Amino acid sequence: MTRCGSLEDLRTILINSPEFAATTGNQFGRPDMAIVDNRTNQVVDFGATTQQLQDLWAQVGRSWESLGQDQPFHSVVTLDEFSPEKIDANAAEFWETGVHDTNKILDICKSCGIDLTPLNVALEYGCGVGRASVYLSSLFKTVHALDVSRHHLDIARQRAEQLHLDNIDFRLVNPSSFEELPQFDFFYSRLVLQHNPPPVIAFILTGLLQNLTPGGAGVFQVPVYMAGYRFGTAQYLKSTPPDLDMHCLPQSEVFDLVARAGCTICEVREDGDVGKFGEWVSNTIAVRKTL
Ligand SMILES: C[S@@+](CC[C@H](N)C(=O)[O-])C[C@H]1O[C@@H](n2cnc3c(N)ncnc32)[C@H](O)[C@@H]1O
Repeated sequence: MTRCGSLEDLRTILINSPEFAATTGNQFGRPDMAIVDNRTNQVVDFGATTQQLQDLWAQVGRSWESLGQDQPFHSVVTLDEFSPEKIDANAAEFWETGVHDTNKILDICKSCGIDLTPLNVALEYGCGVGRASVYLSSLFKTVHALDVSRHHLDIARQRAEQLHLDNIDFRLVNPSSFEELPQFDFFYSRLVLQHNPPPVIAFILTGLLQNLTPGGAGVFQVPVYMAGYRFGTAQYLKSTPPDLDMHCLPQSEVFDLVARAGCTICEVREDGDVGKFGEWVSNTIAVRKTL
């Protein structure tokens, strides 16, 4: 207690310890919950003109093309064992992580009464190398798997071919793709929105929610609070952001855009999909589109 300085410090040390992660961790070894009492230290301006939105998108696209070329697996799950030097030895472990995604989808849907049986066509937004898509393909007749990075998509296609899966349609996506999305009655997105500036998160979520078939459902993960986070579009566009930049959209705005798209929130779970335990909050949200 004396060495920690305060009870708050002690709590932070404890919850960041490997022992704590081992008992409460999700499949990536992070605590699968967030304890953040104070959630007022962020300022997010998610307004953007059409041109600014295009520019933000282009920035994100460039980052992911480059990450896809240099570190396609590690950029998806940022654990040391999936770095370019180590991925060959750990490929099986990498691919197995996808089973957690379907388990999580099944669990949250069961918990809030979403019946997936009549939902035939799924869309995975930001599929990466297909880590989760290949498992999703056993739950749905067809899976449209969209991503902004060609390199990630190439690996995803190869993986589906190796597994003889012929019901996944991998597609490159850009903002105009939202005008002609395929029809889908379920969507899933995890570890994707967090790498997009808030106006882009809002654009993507609105596009997915609006295009969801009536009676359809979605499960998506999005950070909603990052202590100290500041975002303004004009200023951000003048900066040189790092690859794998992290962003969030305040929960109230997520809720608003779900409602504006004619969907209802069925369940919200705090998850361990972002780091900085005790400072950042990420939600996994299940929604349903009104019939
Ligand atoms: C951390 S990886 C996660 C991949 C996958 N969701 C998974 O969990 O295995 C993020 C992926 O989202 C993609 N991505 C990022 N921003 C995107 C956007 N605006 N539109 C489509 N894909 C995007 C990246 O190219 C990358 O493949």
